[in-house]
Amino acid sequence: MKVQLGPVAATGAFDVIAILVNEDSLAKDEVVNSFDKALGGALRTLIKQEEWTGKKDSQLSLATAGKLAIRKIYLLGVAKDDAVALRAACARAAKNALSDKATKLGIVLSGAPSDTFVRAAGEGVTLGAYRFTKYLTGDRKPKASIAAVTIAVREGKAKPAKGAQAALTDALTKGVGVGQAVNLTRDLVNEPPNELYPETLAERAKALCSTHKIKCAVWDHKKIQAEGMKLLHAVGRGSRHEPRFVHMTYTPAGPAKKGRKKIVVVGKGLTFDSGGLCIKQAAGMGDMKCDMAGAAVSVGLVAALAALKPDVEVHAIFAAAENMPDGNAYRPGDIWGSLDGKTVEIINTDAEGRLVLADALAYAAKLEPDVLIDHATLTGACMIALGSATAGMYSNDDALAAKYVKAAKEAGESLWHMPLIEDLRESMKSDCADLKHTGDRYGGSIIGGLFLREFIGKTKHWIHMDIAGPAFAERPTALSPKGGTGYGLLTLVHFIESTAAGH
Ligand code: BES
Ligand code: MN
Ligand code: ZN
Repeated sequence: MKVQLGPVAATGAFDVIAILVNEDSLAKDEVVNSFDKALGGALRTLIKQEEWTGKKDSQLSLATAGKLAIRKIYLLGVAKDDAVALRAACARAAKNALSDKATKLGIVLSGAPSDTFVRAAGEGVTLGAYRFTKYLTGDRKPKASIAAVTIAVREGKAKPAKGAQAALTDALTKGVGVGQAVNLTRDLVNEPPNELYPETLAERAKALCSTHKIKCAVWDHKKIQAEGMKLLHAVGRGSRHEPRFVHMTYTPAGPAKKGRKKIVVVGKGLTFDSGGLCIKQAAGMGDMKCDMAGAAVSVGLVAALAALKPDVEVHAIFAAAENMPDGNAYRPGDIWGSLDGKTVEIINTDAEGRLVLADALAYAAKLEPDVLIDHATLTGACMIALGSATAGMYSNDDALAAKYVKAAKEAGESLWHMPLIEDLRESMKSDCADLKHTGDRYGGSIIGGLFLREFIGKTKHWIHMDIAGPAFAERPTALSPKGGTGYGLLTLVHFIESTAAGH
């Protein structure tokens, strides 16, 4: 799908077009007027008949019935200066175009031309055009797909500054690049677990890194054991598919700079979580192919960094395993050491995510990051607490947490800052090991966070994102079809860019 900036008018060669309008200026919107004129007044008549006000996230569509070469016009309401609503509207335009089997889509943005808006538009159309169709055949295979999207910015009152056009083009390219990175994350989550297991997930990461000339180290099972990642080994040993540990390193071009920040991102990569010996019930077990969504954020991040080239050092890491019941599987009652050195008494083999993350975090801490961020589909309890669209965020640094909340707001992702309630640590006390990996049922998501905190060493600035809910959607969302959403990556990218900018 080609995405470019260019003019979008009633005479243009488009199958469908979308006009984004602000509620407050709909009445005198000149783009709406020009299309209305070309349609002999049909557009304004429809707006009146439908009493459409241009409210944010609402839409009105009109079939041109042969009056124009353009088959359909979608009017999409957005709020003024709202990049999140604009991104969603562009995603909706792409989604509409797909269902109308259009191949050429034109979009007229609302508001004055700005890099932020064009960037959001590039992200939006790319995200909205996403479908996972790899395993469909025959009639189920979609025939039409969008070939080209043209995005038009409205003329501002002021004369465009020199270089403004180049900046807009750059913003669009970056937006499309970020959208593709999120779509890669979605693809990985949507892949079935017979195809995507630790080894193939690591291969996908390796291939991506070699395309972009990014350093990538992959540890196999032997190396994982040799390095002392006993918890990752314990979780992975019940599967025919060996675990993998992957460390990708993005270093900005140019000489090392003083004060350049180092961000380390870690992901839970359970390519399938059956629960192990403490096996899950059948209903919904198939959804546990999504249990590597945190790792997929780490991989998608590398693709985003390749598109954005920010001035920050970023380490994208994941620990991948398959949690299976087997004669060789780890069991409740086991005591395992860890990379950090602490011993852990195993209570429930279905609480495997925190174990593989414990070793990955201990490894990450040794890199002495300025900021350490992990993503994990960690607990069902987090979904009970916050619903399925919102991630639970935990941190040992309130100022950092506030920055992350801001990044999420700008990115349009829903998260909630959850407390690490110290009293709940009590329930992780073990009689025979340094700690148990689970505690009371109540406060389950918090206990997951408290357990992880035991393994971050001296790291002062750490964020844990429990993405069990939003990583995988039961229903389509504004930006995504059912299934893998790529949740977390947009916020992370916003955060990294603002860190690069010195904020
Ligand atoms: N992968 C699951 C958590 C999960 C649940 C992710 C639903 C996405 C959707 C995790 O490994 C798990 O099984 N957690 C247990 C922990 C419990 C045994 C302490 C849970 O949430 O029940
Ligand atoms: Mn589990
Ligand atoms: Zn799991």
